[in-house]
Amino acid sequence: MTVLEAIAARRSVRDFADTPVARETVEQLLDAAVQAPSAMNAQNWAFGVIQSVDRLRELGERARVAFVAMLDAQGMTGDFRDHVADPSFAPFYNAGTLVVIYAIPGPPLGTINCALAAENLMLAAAEAGLGTCWIGIAGPFLDDAVVKGELGVPDEYEAVAALIVGYPATEGTPPTKNPPQVLYWQ
Ligand SMILES: Cc1cc2nc3c(=O)[nH]c(=O)nc-3n(C[C@H](O)[C@H](O)[C@H](O)COP(=O)(O)O)c2cc1C
Repeated sequence: MTVLEAIAARRSVRDFADTPVARETVEQLLDAAVQAPSAMNAQNWAFGVIQSVDRLRELGERARVAFVAMLDAQGMTGDFRDHVADPSFAPFYNAGTLVVIYAIPGPPLGTINCALAAENLMLAAAEAGLGTCWIGIAGPFLDDAVVKGELGVPDEYEAVAALIVGYPATEGTPPTKNPPQVLYWQ
């Protein structure tokens, strides 16, 4: 698969087969992630992997509750809030693997570096026939000091990207993508 084919193949997946992702496969994805560019080659990222189904379910439910509390504190109402507030909503869907990418503080632009590592990981996953989805609603929860403490993550690290990974159960409908809006070409 060429890079362009992987870019075209990557689409957010939210429905996964029960087939577990092998440890070596996850290691290959992490190897791809760390090939990403980073400002001053700081490589100031670190990774957490969760493959325990029970732990994923428990963390997902806590992330859901925390996210609803955050929306409520902001006074947000509407369909999106109600969708997340529904106890049957599982933020990690039924994925069997979660990879969290943390920015190590110090060097500049750690958040951007981690986002680039995340995209590398998602493209490598696409080539391996795996589906991924960045779960932004779990971000604030995973960055909470208590949760980082539970997971053995230094408090000063920042949870940037939470990526679910698994073998897609269904194709899904690819979203339409707008053509590039070119502001200048001098
Ligand atoms: C920073 C970020 C946060 C996202 N958060 C969520 C999320 O919490 N839940 C979800 O289902 N999808 C989430 N997504 C996936 C987007 O909905 C998806 O990328 C977008 O609809 C485009 O679809 P595609 O990835 O298939 O191209 C997130 C994507 C990004 C980049």
